[in-house]
Amino acid sequence: MSKSYTIWTIGCQMNLADSRQAAEALEALGYIAAPAAERADLIVLNTCVVRQSAEDKAAGRIQSLKSVKRRRPSTSIVVMGCLVGDDLPALRQRYPHVDAFLRPSDVAGLVEHARRGIAEDLACLEGAPRNACPVAAYVPVMLGCDHHCTYCIVTLRRGPGRSLPIPQIVEEAGKAVAAGAREITLLGQNVDDYGHDLPGEPDLADVLRAIHDLDGLWRIRFLTSHPADLSDRLIAAVAELPKVCPHFELPIQAGDDLVLKRMGRGYTVDDYRRLVGRIRHSVPGASIATDVIVGFPGESDEQFKRTMSLLEEIRFDAVHVAAYSPRPGTAASRLADDVPPEVKAARRQAVEDLQERIVGEINGQLAGQAVEVLVEEPHKVRWKGRTRTNKLVFFEHPDDWQGKLAQVRITWAGPWSLLGEVTPAPRG
Ligand code: SAM
Ligand code: F3S
Repeated sequence: MSKSYTIWTIGCQMNLADSRQAAEALEALGYIAAPAAERADLIVLNTCVVRQSAEDKAAGRIQSLKSVKRRRPSTSIVVMGCLVGDDLPALRQRYPHVDAFLRPSDVAGLVEHARRGIAEDLACLEGAPRNACPVAAYVPVMLGCDHHCTYCIVTLRRGPGRSLPIPQIVEEAGKAVAAGAREITLLGQNVDDYGHDLPGEPDLADVLRAIHDLDGLWRIRFLTSHPADLSDRLIAAVAELPKVCPHFELPIQAGDDLVLKRMGRGYTVDDYRRLVGRIRHSVPGASIATDVIVGFPGESDEQFKRTMSLLEEIRFDAVHVAAYSPRPGTAASRLADDVPPEVKAARRQAVEDLQERIVGEINGQLAGQAVEVLVEEPHKVRWKGRTRTNKLVFFEHPDDWQGKLAQVRITWAGPWSLLGEVTPAPRG
């Protein structure tokens, strides 16, 4: 009888992509997705430690598997991802019920473990990533990151930036399209660094061109960009290539030069402004999303206000805001974490409130307009999809729209999603 597996994933899209690859590799070995996680023969936890809250969640889930292991000692438990750092002995001591600890993206290590047949049977806790959304797939182009932002643990856990060769990316993209994907998001912690370690030093624009004409592929996205590295050549490729969506994920992190310097970001607020100007000039109507950290060590009220003014000035389409949490081993962890938790929470709330108003206004302009929506999946009684600018759209319709492009007239626009009806409106 086949063994079963389950993969539980938290964290970034890179983890989702790793989990999808892991699922494919396990299925190639003959494993099947377990109908119930606790009954799986192989339980894989793909973890994230970018923030303390993510680490706590992963630790809680690992602890909770103790009873599963007690009830069914043959269950194999594998922890992979950013929780797995250099101190393996400490992890083994803390979680003796875990059979293997694997580094981020170590799908080969997982396959090796599964091959050795340590487990007799495996399962899936939540969010089986392989089929999470067959229409929009993630394809990694780079592992690790070459930057050393002082607050960030990613470089320590995922290592330096390593680019995947273009033929391998084209092959992965082709497989995803053959499996039904109509949109591909190229992933990396900093995709703008792509290629500097490869012969001939291709860049991300070359990758976009290499996959652009795949039959059956309609949309291409990429994330994440780094404001110090996003080149005019890449912006020009977005403007020129019709399948590439006009959307940029461009983390600013803070709106104050001193804070940016202490974060080790390598650009000033003015550099960022000019970059946004170049994007908006070359790709009119592009949406721009960003990340902000509030409560970085030493961040004063004045400095935080400058972040708020910058958000007001740039008017982002989305802001992912996080309260700073010290991560072990990072340069910032040696600074006093001196912004009190309640101040961090209040600043975070202030960003969210401001952003809710701004996005509400931006999205409000779409009311009455027709937009192109790539429909990803049903959601309760509606269809759910996204515009080329990454806005979430819902509409009701009796036909099967999954994986199709719909022209949708927006009838209601809120800050987090849009509602509409397919045009031309059904008669009768
Ligand atoms: N590559 C991206 C960039 O250029 O900024 C970001 C990757 S990072 C893994 C994802 C996000 O997590 C960051 O943009 C940051 O906002 C947040 N983050 C990372 N470390 C953090 C920390 N120590 N505390 C709070 N948020 C953090
Ligand atoms: Fe982290 Fe900065 Fe790289 S936030 S992932 S070190 S660009």
